[in-house]
Amino acid sequence: MTRRHLLSIDDVDEGQIREILATAGEMHDVQHREVKKLPALRGRTVVNLFFEDSTRTRSSFEIAGKWLSADVINISAKGSSASKGESLRDTAMTVAAMGVDALVIRHSASGAAHQVSQWIDAAVINAGDGTHEHPTQALLDAYTLQRHHGDLAGRHIAIVGDLTHSRVVRSNLLCLTKLGARVTLVAPVTLMPSGIASWAAAEGFSVSSDLDEVLAGGVDAVMMLRVQKERMSGGYFPTPREYTIGYGLTRPRLDALVAANPEVAICHPGPMNRGLEISADAADAAQSLVLDQVSAGVAVRMSVLYHLLASGEPDRGYAA
Ligand code: NCD
Repeated sequence: MTRRHLLSIDDVDEGQIREILATAGEMHDVQHREVKKLPALRGRTVVNLFFEDSTRTRSSFEIAGKWLSADVINISAKGSSASKGESLRDTAMTVAAMGVDALVIRHSASGAAHQVSQWIDAAVINAGDGTHEHPTQALLDAYTLQRHHGDLAGRHIAIVGDLTHSRVVRSNLLCLTKLGARVTLVAPVTLMPSGIASWAAAEGFSVSSDLDEVLAGGVDAVMMLRVQKERMSGGYFPTPREYTIGYGLTRPRLDALVAANPEVAICHPGPMNRGLEISADAADAAQSLVLDQVSAGVAVRMSVLYHLLASGEPDRGYAA
């Protein structure tokens, strides 16, 4: 039985992260070729099974699979039998029964990818499970930042925004600290996950509710997170305007950041709420790496698919 998955950055050690990023560097060149095809996954089938909306993640997994010559099939909950009430288990087992090699899954329930990996033989890649993890996003963020700054050891990265509902922050925290970066999480107390202080103490990162103080202390990168309105059941901040005043990457904050460090990197996983957590000026600034992140997404997902599926590589997965 194959046991080769990417479910969490927790399962990937520093050496494996560096290997994935190095392979992504080689894969990235394909993007600039006239013929964007490598034969590595010829005859392999990858299914994208998405129960939540996605623009970047789903299409970049599709492009990544296709550029590696795999057959890629997209299934979204809308338009599948999931919308008729079929359980996740039945849907996953049905797709697996067709003989797929990898299942890329996004689901609103934390732990969904892990669950599915227990039910089927195919490699399972977590493309976002609820508020838990989004490992390929963290890998592409690390790749993007590494291309910009070189080795991330000792670099200071502030991750700002809706920490409570973000799966991106969890994966990024694990990934960036494994690469030796210094991470500070910034959010209003109402958007801090419970127990964050003990988590911070255990993992060695910092936490703050004062964005201006953190930025004034000097940062190499600031990663803005989307305010995830769809996961909010109550009022986490008084008004959007107050959120922006306290935690948005506004024009004045951008100017101060760039004045202090012209090499500062501005990241956002997308989709962006322009005018809420990030101003248009910051999103489109010369220091913005938002589109580099998208481009890196294809290369990193090619690398992950390659390491999990390429023939001749026995059990290269990161979780059993
Ligand atoms: C993120 C996600 O879906 O978790 N987006 C993405 O994959 N690019 C972040 C978000 O939705 O805010």
